[in-house]
Amino acid sequence: MCDSATEKRGVYEGEVAANELLCRKHWRLRLRVTALPPSRPGQFVQLQCRPIREQVSAREVEWADGQLPQFTQPELTDKEPLLRRPLSIGGRRDTGATAELDLIYRAVGTGTTWLSGVRAGDRLSVIGPLGNAFPVSQHKPRAALVGGGVGIPPMLCLADAIGRGKQATAFCGVRSQHLLPLTLTGKPDADGRPGACAEEFARSGATTVVASDDGTVGYEGLVTDALLHWLRAEAVPADDLVVYACGPEPMMRAAADLCIELGIECYVSLERIMACGMGTCQSCVVKIRDDSRQGWAYKLCCSDGPVFPADAVVW
Ligand SMILES: Cc1cc2nc3c(=O)[nH]c(=O)nc-3n(C[C@H](O)[C@H](O)[C@H](O)COP(=O)(O)OP(=O)(O)OC[C@H]3O[C@@H](n4cnc5c(N)ncnc54)[C@H](O)[C@@H]3O)c2cc1C
Ligand code: FES
Repeated sequence: MCDSATEKRGVYEGEVAANELLCRKHWRLRLRVTALPPSRPGQFVQLQCRPIREQVSAREVEWADGQLPQFTQPELTDKEPLLRRPLSIGGRRDTGATAELDLIYRAVGTGTTWLSGVRAGDRLSVIGPLGNAFPVSQHKPRAALVGGGVGIPPMLCLADAIGRGKQATAFCGVRSQHLLPLTLTGKPDADGRPGACAEEFARSGATTVVASDDGTVGYEGLVTDALLHWLRAEAVPADDLVVYACGPEPMMRAAADLCIELGIECYVSLERIMACGMGTCQSCVVKIRDDSRQGWAYKLCCSDGPVFPADAVVW
């Protein structure tokens, strides 16, 4: 479960239980970690994307007499994923003292591409749980969980925490069907496109609306347009609903603007380049409104966030 409150964190060694390809670019890493403190939906871990205990070795650059080093030499161009990479906790199952985490990631660069090659039994170093969490409102009967691309994983954890006590609808936006990291069930539509009920959300009692930019699955268009369409069709009173959003910044901004306009409570989970993930390096600042003369202050996305009220963010 992803719903216990905690402020504790630590460095742990986890064992890979599985690392499976979910769609063309996304993998699900199942990592078993012993004694990991409880985590809440919206929190993340910093994962070391290289072998454990491997020292980053100083490399010698070949420099022959009378010649200058070439910038195309592998010693100078190869990349080492030195820093850990932040990944949202997309699911968690506790058995005794061991937690099995689901980390769903898209292979985009050096670290995540290396990660896509790990196998069951490999060991990885992980720091967590990090960051704040989505506040789960006790009073509002309905929740809309809006995830775009790699913003979908934290919504799975949130749906799990919300559970069946509330009517939750997950809005999942992707560019195309082959980039959807979910298992769709339900009848295909008249054009043969897959039904848009995601097994992963259905387990928590949440219904799913899928939107794709190219129309290969679900609603054709932006996920925020699908949200607006649903808000109009369902005529949900603003006071009954809370919206949570995570994904590309333009998507979150559109969701935030829509909710502010309609008077709906909304939280966004921001993404920044994070070197440490725990408030030390100051690499992840975001502008958050406050009562000061300038009207805002810098906050750290990793430790003050990543979740902020949508109306507090200076985009
Ligand atoms: C709080 C948080 C939660 C995240 N959760 C997920 C998740 O659940 N699944 C997922 O696939 N991705 C997630 N990301 C994004 C993920 O961290 C980056 O895609 C990953 O760090 C890229 O590493 P790389 O070495 O493969 O790519 P690189 O070769 O380093 O860079 C490729 C791209 O990734 C971006 N990037 C690189 N390092 C970081 C970093 N430390 N933080 C953010 N962006 C970075 C770069 O700007 C570049 O656009 C999350 C990011 C944050 C901040
Ligand atoms: S990532 Fe280092 S302070 Fe936020």
